[in-house]
Formats: sequence, structure tokens, C-alpha cells
Amino acid sequence: MVVGQRINTVVDSYDINGYGVCHIDKKIVFAEGAMEGESVIIEITDIHKNFCFAKTIKVLEKSKNRIEEACAFSKLCGGCNLLHMDYETELKIKENRVRQTLRKFSYKENPIINNKDIYGYRNKVMIPFRKDEEGDVIYGFYEKMTHNVISMDKCIISNDISNKIVFYIARYLSLFNISIYDETSNKGLFKELMIRNTILDEYMVVLVATRKYDFSDLVNFITKEFPMIKSIYLNINPENTNVVLSNDYTLLYGMETITEDILGLKFNVSPASFMQVNHYNCERLYEEAIKLADLKPNYNVIDAYCGMGSITLNIAKNVNHVYGIEVVESAIVNANNNKKLNNIYNADFICGKCEDEIKKLVSKEKIDVIFFDPPRKGCDKSFLDTVISMNIPKIVYISCNIATAARDIEILTKNGYELKEVTPCDLFSRTAHCESILVIEKK
Ligand SMILES: C[S@@+](CC[C@H](N)C(=O)[O-])C[C@H]1O[C@@H](n2cnc3c(N)ncnc32)[C@H](O)[C@@H]1O
Repeated sequence: MVVGQRINTVVDSYDINGYGVCHIDKKIVFAEGAMEGESVIIEITDIHKNFCFAKTIKVLEKSKNRIEEACAFSKLCGGCNLLHMDYETELKIKENRVRQTLRKFSYKENPIINNKDIYGYRNKVMIPFRKDEEGDVIYGFYEKMTHNVISMDKCIISNDISNKIVFYIARYLSLFNISIYDETSNKGLFKELMIRNTILDEYMVVLVATRKYDFSDLVNFITKEFPMIKSIYLNINPENTNVVLSNDYTLLYGMETITEDILGLKFNVSPASFMQVNHYNCERLYEEAIKLADLKPNYNVIDAYCGMGSITLNIAKNVNHVYGIEVVESAIVNANNNKKLNNIYNADFICGKCEDEIKKLVSKEKIDVIFFDPPRKGCDKSFLDTVISMNIPKIVYISCNIATAARDIEILTKNGYELKEVTPCDLFSRTAHCESILVIEKK
């Protein structure tokens, strides 16, 4: 088998990322874009000792679950890799991803919480800007595994108004010949755009540039066109790194925060604060996590990795006291304001790393339930060690990366806990990512 070789084969099953799995010459081949049961021609793209990667060149016999891809850019953009299948198949792949990753544990498996709208659901877009070879301003998404920007005018999983704002800003930058960033030379001004929106129809725009610049004309132009824009920031990031946003924010227009409504509570959101990207299923996720926690009015609870306090304050409605811990300072400022905004008096927010701050809660009072909602890399080992030493009876682990959750659960199960119940939740439709809620109890 060699890279570039084309092979006529049949697809046996799916892997956890939704790739078609074929068996050729005693090797497993993961074929992007191929569906279970199909007869396909694939092209080998990457060879490893026991497995290979391939892309689908032609489908000879179609699966009944194959659909027309709703995005013209899907072959190039690395964002959505499940566009070629119906939603039912996508959900089965996600359930299977969770099941496979947790196969060494025995637990109750709940059905996946599906998404209401599988397109247009994202409330946050990050769009890089560049110039093409002809010198025209282009914007879009990074090509799979590269830093080349593919020019595309619309992302089908993103909010439609955000797509339009991006289009207007690109037109302005082009018309007024504003300098655009060039990654190779690390020169030029305008780098990237972040747009966030809430269910209350408030939009926040963050212009990312390499230096200070007077963007007042652009601000006037877009706020007239889009009155729903309530806040515009300039973020200055002169570094040539993968980290798009620096800590250097200047408010150019409107309010410091926009407001979100989650399960009837109001939340002020700053540009640096984490907010779930799918509002509808964020509410289902929180409802399910709180239901599975089986909270009681006399309980004391910790919400670790709490962001702007969106789960914390929803927990507060049901318990005696809740502590939220979060490392991003502006998120904690939001969380404290959100507490006041909602007249909640039984929540305390602590700014710092969970692994450090939880130690300060050890001798405070008995904790009945702890929620974890860490980033993709999962929890710090020392954080888990402290949780174990605190003998907390119940853990509700919200995970956006089931592989790191499985690693963390292994540590917990070796130390007197057992995995009881898991509910997957589809927050990221059309992509292979899957959120899950895992309930872990002291034996
Ligand atoms: C997946 S988000 C969850 C936020 C929140 N629970 C929500 O649903 O909006 C993870 C959060 O953990 C924070 N974080 C990352 N590492 C941390 C650490 N070591 N200690 C505390 N917070 C951390 C991030 O800033 C982010 O707000």
C-alpha cells in the first residue's frame, strides 16, 4: 500500500470520529467521507504501521443514510466532517464514541440528547482574514491540518446574522484598503474577527489586529447596518501564534458585556469568558446535569471550572450553598455580577486554578456534590487527588472530550468511586465532537 494508491473496497463500520472503517491487506483503513455498508473507491493519504488514512474518491454503492452535503466547502474546511450523513447516523456514531471510550466501565447508558437545529446553531464565530494572490481580501476557515485560509462567505453551522456581519466587515476592509495581516511575514494590521450572539439577540464583535488603529468609521458603518451589535472590542495581538486573542482588549463601542438568558437566569458575558456555543442544547445539558445530581435544599456544592457561573447559579436555585471556581479573572467578574443580576445570595465565586483553590475548601464544610466542566485536556491530577481526599459522595462530570474524561474516571474508580450513569449530549452537530454528562459516586 502506498500514499496516493486508489483502492476499491467496502466499508465495514465507523470509527469514533465517524470515518468509515475498511480492512485491506490486514490493515485497518480509516476513510474520511465513507459510510458503513458502502462500496467505495478510496485514496490512501497517510500510512502507519497497523493502520492507514484515506479519503473517499467515489461512492459506487451509496448508503441509504447518505445525504447531500449542505456546505460547498466541506471537502476543504476541517470543521464539519459528518455533513454527508443523516442526523440519525451522526447521533449513533456519537453514542458509540462515548460507549467505546468508556468500554472498560459498566454503567447505565442514557440516550443522547439531540439538537433542535443542526445548522445555524453556533453563537460564536472566529474568522481569520488574509489577502489572496490577487491581493483581494479573503476570509473563511483554516484548511484541514494547515494554516491556509479558505475563502468562504458563509458557515452553515454558524448564526446567519454573524455570517452577514463578517461579510460587511470584509467588504469595508476591502473598500477602504485596510491593511490585512500576512502570517508569513507577520506584517499587516487586521487579523481576525470574533462574533458572539445571545438568545436575547445581542451581538458582540471583537476585531483582532496587530496594533492600535482608529476603527471608528468601521464601527459606525457596522452599527448602523446591524443595530443588534451592542458591543465592539479591539483586541491587540501582535504575536504570530495559534492563540488568536490576547489579554489586551479595548472597548470601542457600546456595552462591556452582552446578556444571555440560560434557563431563566440572566448572564453578562465578556469577550474572554467561556460561553457554550449552542444555546438550545446548553440548556438541555445543564438541566440534565442538575437532574442527575439529584440536588437537595441542604446540600453544599462545588462547581469547578465554572466560567461566568452559568451552571453555578442554576445549581444555587436548588441547594444551600454553591462555590464556583474559575481561572479567568473577567469570567469571575461576570460571575459576581451575574449573581447580583439574579438576586442569588448563596453562591461564592473563587478566582484561581481549581487544583489550587479547591484545597482551601477542604476544611470549610462538607461538600455533597461536585460538578466538573473542564476544558478538553480534562482535570489536573492534583485536583482529582484533592476531590478524592474530600470524600465527596457524588461527582457530575461534564465533558467535551470523552477520552480525557475516561482517563480521569479511571483515577477516580481506582480510588473508591464508580461510574454510575452517562448521558451524551449533541452540542456540536455535524462535527464529530460530543459532550457528555457522567455521574460518578463514592462506592
Ligand atoms: C468547558 S468551560 C466550562 C465553563 C462553564 N462551566 C460553562 O458551562 O459555561 C471550562 C472552563 O474552565 C476554565 N479553566 C480552564 N482551566 C482551569 C483551571 N485549571 N482551573 C479553573 N478553571 C479553569 C476555562 O477558563 C473555562 O471557563
